[in-house]
Amino acid sequence: MNPVSPLLQVSGLNAAYDGSQILRQVSLGVPAGQVVALMGRNGVGKTTTLKCITGLLTPTSGAITLAGVALNPLRPDERARLGLGYVPQGRDIFSNLTVGENLRIGLVAHRRRANGEVDRVLELFPVLREMLKRKGGVLSGGQQQQLAIARALLTDPKVLILDEPTEGIQPNIIDQIGETFLKLRKIGKLGILLVEQYLDFCLGVADSFYVMDRGAMVAEGPIGRLDAGIVRKYLTV
Ligand SMILES: Nc1ncnc2c1ncn2[C@@H]1O[C@H](COP(=O)(O)OP(=O)(O)O)[C@@H](O)[C@H]1O
Ligand SMILES: [Mg+2]
Repeated sequence: MNPVSPLLQVSGLNAAYDGSQILRQVSLGVPAGQVVALMGRNGVGKTTTLKCITGLLTPTSGAITLAGVALNPLRPDERARLGLGYVPQGRDIFSNLTVGENLRIGLVAHRRRANGEVDRVLELFPVLREMLKRKGGVLSGGQQQQLAIARALLTDPKVLILDEPTEGIQPNIIDQIGETFLKLRKIGKLGILLVEQYLDFCLGVADSFYVMDRGAMVAEGPIGRLDAGIVRKYLTV
């Protein structure tokens, strides 16, 4: 693989629900060691794009590759095992399992050994270490989000995909999640695709941005180029 080509590459994606077209020629790239923000108002197609990438929805056309491997023919679990980590919108942790069990489930699903892996990830989320025996359901929204991210990281993904991780979370936890992303970015290996509507969060953690409107990409570039004009036209409610 060409070392400068993105880890995750999406090209010319089209997708429909029940025959009505939602995505139009969506393309994006996520390089190793970078945080890429995918932005846009409600209903523009951000989650649909992620569903096509993770395999939950079959696009009508377009190519998706991870580290040069074509993902299109693969099932969601096969894509995950190849290195696609996914934290869906609304963080689906198991309320009746403990924090520790929630974490180990991620490992079992990927047939990985627990030794060292859990410790490595808990270093990024010290609050979870104190709560390993608590039920997932008693955690705050922010702690649940951290648990969902930790569980995804345990599978040692090449690319981590997150759908609106700051939604409904208190500012201090949002800051902690932001710091975690910056730490992960410093390690330089992981690519992060962050779907996010919270502008300041994107400005704080992202290297580059894409903006969608009505199912198509309408702006992209290094995060420094996300100017007031784009924000007004496509992002403010
Ligand atoms: N399961 C579905 N069936 C039919 N239409 C859907 C479904 N999910 C989303 N849509 C529609 O697709 C469009 C894009 O939705 P979505 O990708 O969830 O947007 P976003 O994540 O940007 O808010 C919206 O018009 C939404 O109503
Ligand atoms: Mg969405």
